[in-house]
Amino acid sequence: MEFLKLCLSLVCLSLAGSSISDVYLNHFPAVKLRHPFGQAVIPPPKLEARSPHATLRFRANINRTKVVTVLVDSGANINLINERLAVDLQLKATPLVQPLRLGTVNGEQLACRTKYTAVVMDIQGLEVSVTLYALPIAGDVILGIQWLEELGPVICDWKLRTMRFTLKNKERFLRGIP
Ligand SMILES: *[C@@H]1O[C@H](CO)[C@@H](O)[C@H](O)[C@H]1NC(C)=O
Repeated sequence: MEFLKLCLSLVCLSLAGSSISDVYLNHFPAVKLRHPFGQAVIPPPKLEARSPHATLRFRANINRTKVVTVLVDSGANINLINERLAVDLQLKATPLVQPLRLGTVNGEQLACRTKYTAVVMDIQGLEVSVTLYALPIAGDVILGIQWLEELGPVICDWKLRTMRFTLKNKERFLRGIP
């Protein structure tokens, strides 16, 4: 029960007016929604709680300027960035013609109005260029399926928090932080 309360699921109703997809923000300790849940911080999950999907965390350099924490989350459809962080970093914003509407399980709505394209991040020597959607999350960056599906098959060791995959004929290995 406790665990269920911690889960916060968001359903994305429309992406730029075209496709219908799901966005699922999990209970990552740092994820906090400012609206419509006030300033409440979602408490960290109990250690033994089963996660509905898998996450790994990494430190990464973003836009060659700042080190941030990246949550790789197979339960999120899209990549997200903390909207305040994006502004602080002076990333080049692209306003969405049609806001990305995010409905919560409570029937409330969030709207993402800005995306950031071709944002370069360096994750342990792996350089990636991604599109990030801005939302008031408390974490820095979430890389979801939008990024993961570019990698092809990925082998994860959940105990050692590692990811192994082949990108452009090169073997890649990432080790997550606790
Ligand atoms: C990276 O940051 C600089 C400012 O430091 C900014 O001018 C540039 O647009 C940023 N790059 C992207 C892809 O947002």
